[in-house]
Amino acid sequence: MLKSPTSVCAVAPSSRTLARAMAKGLTIGDDESVVELGPGTGAITDQIRHILPHDGGYLGIEIEPRFVDLLRKRYPGLRFEQNTVAKAFQLHANTGTPPVRAVISGLPISTMPVQVIDEIIANLDRLMKPGTVFRMFQYIHAYYLPASIQFRRRMAPFFSCYRVESVVLKNLPPALVITWTR
Ligand SMILES: C[S@@+](CC[C@H](N)C(=O)[O-])C[C@H]1O[C@@H](n2cnc3c(N)ncnc32)[C@H](O)[C@@H]1O
Repeated sequence: MLKSPTSVCAVAPSSRTLARAMAKGLTIGDDESVVELGPGTGAITDQIRHILPHDGGYLGIEIEPRFVDLLRKRYPGLRFEQNTVAKAFQLHANTGTPPVRAVISGLPISTMPVQVIDEIIANLDRLMKPGTVFRMFQYIHAYYLPASIQFRRRMAPFFSCYRVESVVLKNLPPALVITWTR
């Protein structure tokens, strides 16, 4: 975090409780996939693995090369692209990953520039069909920051439904799990 404070933006990887909550209730079919944005060191990836029908149903996009090296060693069957999530649609298409059922995000939304946020939403718009799910966590203390409110406003036209799924106190810091349905 000290080396890349604005992109990593976390004092510790997500706890197992938070990671489990991020994957909870999602069902992925044989010809569907999960795209993970900002997997970091793999705390949530570890739980996503359990809901995948096979390794081919996963694509992780992580900007930090050191994390990507670690992820590739830790999960040799899964595909990780060292790139920005602002290219998610193109990366998904280029890698031949099956159609998206869920996008799971560990991105620090409240610290990201508006331009990058708009690029991410434009990618979600192209990647996600009706009925698919975008799930992210947000630290409780950041929920009412202007950047977080702006993000929810920008997402609203693209998604039919938004809900706070759970509150996870066993995390540093405590977090909310939020789900948008397309
Ligand atoms: C808060 S950390 C979360 C890491 C992990 N998912 C977890 O929950 O422990 C945010 C992650 O998003 C990555 N990230 C930030 N901006 C990104 C971008 N534009 N494209 C891809 N990854 C990005 C960071 O490098 C970091 O690994």
